[in-house]
Amino acid sequence: MDEENGYRIVSPEFNASDADSEISLRPKTLDEYIGQAKVKENLKIYMDAAKDRREPLDHVLLYGPPGLGKTTLAGIIANTMGVQMRITSGPAIGITGDLVGLLTNLDEGDVLFIDEIHRLSRQVEEILYPAMEDNAIDLITGKGPSARSIRLDTKRFTLVGATTRAGQLTAPLRDRFGIILRLELYTPYELAEIIKRSARILNIQIDEDGALEIASRSRGTPRIANRLLKRTRDFAQVMGSGIITEKDARTALSKMEIDELGLDNIDRLILTSMINNYGGGPVGLETIAASTGEEAVTIEDVYEPYLMQIGFLARTPRGRIVTDAAYLHLGIEKKA
Ligand code: ADE
Repeated sequence: MDEENGYRIVSPEFNASDADSEISLRPKTLDEYIGQAKVKENLKIYMDAAKDRREPLDHVLLYGPPGLGKTTLAGIIANTMGVQMRITSGPAIGITGDLVGLLTNLDEGDVLFIDEIHRLSRQVEEILYPAMEDNAIDLITGKGPSARSIRLDTKRFTLVGATTRAGQLTAPLRDRFGIILRLELYTPYELAEIIKRSARILNIQIDEDGALEIASRSRGTPRIANRLLKRTRDFAQVMGSGIITEKDARTALSKMEIDELGLDNIDRLILTSMINNYGGGPVGLETIAASTGEEAVTIEDVYEPYLMQIGFLARTPRGRIVTDAAYLHLGIEKKA
């Protein structure tokens, strides 16, 4: 945790420190969007074809770890299709009336973006089905024998749903998305391009090696890369360097206790507690959660994807195991 601000600098979740710049840094077109080559290629075809037919784009489900640009992509879809985007989230839609209000206020072709769509309540989800399929809302009026169902028409729209876990979506909801796109963690080279682009927009001077140094510690996540760029600028500025070099980046990141691979003390705690308490595994997710004080879902959505990408953690049918590479990185001898 960051002592002053109460959050982890390498958390991929959105926080207040991102609010000012994240919006100005968001690419508005697919051409400006770096990485996710497969997603971009397919999405471009789907959008070109829909525009050609003068139809709204089919409903899109975006899934993948937090901080990879799901909201950004939804904005690009709306911008490319030339429509407005309304933004909400699963937990924000408390009652069905909230969703009915949103749906009935959409204009033809608009994008409705629902973040954390796996957290919609059952009742709210049921409003969504006919809206997605038939552009209609079924409302029940009255009670008991005098109950009547009335159908309201909505405009045609594109639902863009985002979730960190497609597996948690109910099957009927998942089946109603015509386009399902999976975002993956970015490579350090892609992140270095994103950092250089952000630096240009924010008027920060950084050289190639400086960008790559920050990129390789950003856990595959643009949101973290942009955050570390801003914090590194603070260090470079106070230390009197006009341009962020590899050395500036190294100094700043080690002061923030982020190691060469972007691991912070919580990542290290997860790995060392598995090693010290369970011989490096196999150990169950709930047990790791209990021994580190983090929630199981947080470990699964936030920490594991990156630890698995760098090959430090593996899933087996009997539980998670720490790999030899992780022992080497942590400088811990593996017991026979
Ligand atoms: N900022 C955040 N994500 C980005 C991306 N994929 N491309 C360009 N800039 C970004």
